[in-house]
Order: sequence, then structure tokens, then C-alpha cells
Amino acid sequence: MIITKSTPSVLFFDSGMGGLSVVASVKERLPNLHCHYLFDHAGFPYGEKQEDFLIERVGELLEQAVKLLNIKLIVVACNTASTIVLPHLRHEIKVPIVGVVPAIKPAAVLSKRKIIGLLATPGTIHRQYTQDLIDKFASDCKVLRIGSTKLVELAENYLATGFVDDEEVLKTVKEWVELDKKLQPDVVVLGCTHFPLLKQSLKKALGEITLLDSGDAIGRRVANLIDDFKLESVLETYDVSSYAFYTGSIEAYEKIIRENSFKRYGFTCLQEFKKFVKD
Ligand code: DGL
Repeated sequence: MIITKSTPSVLFFDSGMGGLSVVASVKERLPNLHCHYLFDHAGFPYGEKQEDFLIERVGELLEQAVKLLNIKLIVVACNTASTIVLPHLRHEIKVPIVGVVPAIKPAAVLSKRKIIGLLATPGTIHRQYTQDLIDKFASDCKVLRIGSTKLVELAENYLATGFVDDEEVLKTVKEWVELDKKLQPDVVVLGCTHFPLLKQSLKKALGEITLLDSGDAIGRRVANLIDDFKLESVLETYDVSSYAFYTGSIEAYEKIIRENSFKRYGFTCLQEFKKFVKD
């Protein structure tokens, strides 16, 4: 199997491997979806980057990808990017774009205590976009926020090695665990696509608290857009490979993530994006 650049596909984008959690949710609904994955390893982690940097960088990478591949739809499987780059992308790129943003709205509906936890990257918790979501959909709730890059790194490491450092996960959310029960959030929004990968460990740390991510909503949205824009060709079975493209160098752990992470999610080839652009 080789890649056919003309095969109609959906492109998933993230800074790292967290977007694979979104791929999994979307594929639960659309198992035949033909997709590629692009991750900006050279720019990782996004949660610590300036907004201007992200707008320019994500725009450039996705514009290049759309020129080279027959991309029918893009999923920006990254909250940190989606909460800042979507207007620019939609202006520059003329294929439908789905963004992933924190599930504040359903969390506000679900929370009985009207205390929500938002667990995301430092970038996402400080975004105006996030504040607007809170003001619009959760104005009756208290929203406690933790921004963590450590958790993003733990999730990357988990995908590569299968190991989760439960103690480090617990340390990240300790300030909520130590709160008096009635002051704790009863719903925690996983506002970073890396965090659903750590669900088991987060459940251990947080106990009874409900964890909410955007995966299922994104699956629904992608299915609706395929209908609305008549993009059914992305659901046909093609005898071509699904690629995971990366920026920068992943030398040290290429073999381990190829076998342990990408193959499991259906991406049979792992290739440097720059090399693909040149070829
Ligand atoms: N997976 C990304 C998100 O959903 C960000 C991880 C990073 O900091 O690069 O926000």
C-alpha cells in the first residue's frame, strides 16, 4: 500500500499525539473514514506558545497540507490551537474545518453542584475564547481552572511507552482533591485532546468526579459535515495507507511510537512532513 495524494481524506492536526484521542472518537462513529494525521512535533508543546506564533505556524502547515493532499475536511484536534487559530484558518483555507474546544456547555448542564473544573493547557485556560465560552454557557457556574503542560507530556509518554505516572497525575489535580467535598467540581472538562488518554489515571486521582471531553461531539460534527457537504468519498474504502506526518525530528523514539501509537490508530506510515513536501 502506498499513499495516493489524490485519495479523498480527512486531516487531523495536533501539536503531538493527543489528537489521536479525537481520531478514535470520530472513527467510533465513522469506522471507514480515510484520514491522515499531521502533528507539529517541532512546535510542541503548544500550551506554552504565543498566540501569534500559533496562528502563523498552524496556518502555514495546514495550507501546505491542503495543497499537497486531497483533503476534504480538517479537524484541528487541539484545543490550544482551535481556541485561537480558527478564524484565520477559515479565512485562508476553503475546506470545512472542525475545531475542538473545551466542552464547557455540556459541563454546565451536567453539573449539579454548579462547580466545574477546567483541565487544559496554560494557553487554553487563559484564552479569551475560553472566557467567552464560560460567560456564554456557564455563567451560573463557578469554573476552577488548572493549566498543565506536565499532563500533556505524561500523555505523550503514555502513548509511547504504555506507562502512566499516577503520582504525577495526582499532583497536577491535587488542589481539587484536597478541597472540601462541597467545594469540589463535580464535572471536570478535559480541555486538551491529550487528557482523555489519561482518563484511567485521572479517574483514580479524582474519584467520583465526571470527566467530560469533546470527542463524541466532534464525531457527530464530522458526520454531519460529511452529509451537508456531500463528502461521502472520504468514507469509501481505499487501498492506500493512512499517514502520520510530523515536523522536526522524532529520531529517538520513532520506532516506539510507530509501533505503539500510530499503528494502533490506523496510521501505518510515519513520515517527516518536510520530506513529504519536497518529494
Ligand atoms: N493537544 C493539545 C490541546 O488539545 C495541546 C498540547 C500542547 O500543549 O501542545 O490543547
